[in-house]
Amino acid sequence: MFILCFVPHILFEAPCTGCRCCASGTDCITTNGVIECLDPCVNYTVLNDTWRSTENTDNSILHCDQDISRSVWYRFYLGQTNAQIPENYVAGNRCGTSAPLWINGSHPVQLNEIVTRNVFGPWWDYWYGYWYSSFYFASNTIQIKLCSGYYVYKLQQPSVCNLAYCTGTPEHQFVQG
Ligand SMILES: *[C@@H]1O[C@H](CO)[C@@H](O)[C@H](O)[C@H]1NC(C)=O
Ligand SMILES: *[C@@H]1O[C@H](CO)[C@@H](O)[C@H](O)[C@H]1NC(C)=O
Ligand SMILES: *[C@@H]1O[C@H](CO)[C@@H](O)[C@H](O)[C@H]1NC(C)=O
Repeated sequence: MFILCFVPHILFEAPCTGCRCCASGTDCITTNGVIECLDPCVNYTVLNDTWRSTENTDNSILHCDQDISRSVWYRFYLGQTNAQIPENYVAGNRCGTSAPLWINGSHPVQLNEIVTRNVFGPWWDYWYGYWYSSFYFASNTIQIKLCSGYYVYKLQQPSVCNLAYCTGTPEHQFVQG
């Protein structure tokens, strides 16, 4: 479904100022300084970091997602495989960071659907000489779109360090379009 924009584009500084004229399933995306309504399933930035894996328990280098941009969409890979943000609690010091970020809720199931999800990270506690993570805190919200066989994400930079988005590859969760 397309939302028609009845105001001539010439009245706007940029064609999608305020994103009011983007067709459903598209979003205002900045590429090389140009802002336009694009399909994030086509125009995305690849994040291909093996350190983000839920399997990664090496915490000698702790990453922080300070370079995440709000004006692009991201597609995750682990090697050649599509990856996705886990839908369940991930303990601290996994995924190459102190606080791996996961989502509370499921990924979208309808093609082209964009959903908003709450992001959480593990809370660290000190108890009898040990740091451990058990509970969790709310971090921020993100948008997720289902494309044909993969997801794309509109992420937000976490407010503190070291927080980073975690990824796994549960293939069964991917809905093929
Ligand atoms: C969007 O992606 C398509 C396909 O990769 C590419 O041809 C086009 O140049 C991209 N547009 C922008 C603005 O990056
Ligand atoms: C991700 O990086 C690995 C290792 O550098 C590479 O083999 C793989 O082709 C990359 N995947 C994508 C989708 O670019
Ligand atoms: C997680 O999502 C469920 C379902 O939407 C909701 O009921 C629950 O309150 C959420 N948990 C937190 C901690 O926000």
